[in-house]
Amino acid sequence: MKNFDRTTFGELYAENYDAQHDPGTTNAAVALLWELAAERKTLELAIGTGRVALPLFERGLDIHGIEASEKMLSKLRAKKGGASIPVTTGDMADVRVDNNFGFIYLIFNTLFNLQSQDAQVRCFKNTAGHLIPGGMFLVETFVPDVTQFTRGQNLQTLHVDRQSAMLEATVHDPLRQTIDYQRIRITDKGIQLKPLPMRYAWPAEIDLMARLAGLHLHSRWGSWDRIPFTSESNMHISIYKKDEQ
Ligand SMILES: C[S@@+](CC[C@H](N)C(=O)[O-])C[C@H]1O[C@@H](n2cnc3c(N)ncnc32)[C@H](O)[C@@H]1O
Repeated sequence: MKNFDRTTFGELYAENYDAQHDPGTTNAAVALLWELAAERKTLELAIGTGRVALPLFERGLDIHGIEASEKMLSKLRAKKGGASIPVTTGDMADVRVDNNFGFIYLIFNTLFNLQSQDAQVRCFKNTAGHLIPGGMFLVETFVPDVTQFTRGQNLQTLHVDRQSAMLEATVHDPLRQTIDYQRIRITDKGIQLKPLPMRYAWPAEIDLMARLAGLHLHSRWGSWDRIPFTSESNMHISIYKKDEQ
């Protein structure tokens, strides 16, 4: 999708992010991340408005962030405690934080916001460079389901009521592994558009990106509640470990 760079997400979604982007798994995510962090210095890539980082900070975790969007960050800083979390502004694929970490995580499909394989590979390398030996990197993404596309496209109705309809139009490029989403809300006052491009990868490709960066798969689950990952799973939580040296 043209004209959608790393700050566009925030431009479009920061204002209503917390109200409109609740995956319903925040408490379970915070509980597992807290356990895995085990009091080690922690970094969230693409920290956003602090949906997950703030509850971890409130529990006493030494947590830092990377974030591309000043708009998302201003929402984080406006919250109680939000201004106390150190955040480096920049691209998680390249930016250097002046610290090393025992635990790093990248959740809510945000790896796929990096729109090329090259950028995703660089993100793994950059992350590995911030991990201490034996440190862990947790990634949460959906498992792609390309059966939903017919001749590279799909249109589905997400919601209809007396005043409005919400549609989701998608275009799929199987070579670049991209899905361009457009959510279309139609009301009698007009039409609102919510675009989002993603570059997806299956778990095996993500494992390979990790290996290229010197990380190895340590564990994988099919939910934040640690159900086993199977061929039926529609999401995964994967934890990669940096070798002890
Ligand atoms: C779906 S939100 C997730 C925010 C937060 N991690 C959460 O779970 O609520 C995606 C976030 O990624 C940020 N983002 C997108 N591309 C980025 C990049 N290349 N580097 C750093 N942050 C990026 C967006 O600004 C946005 O805050």
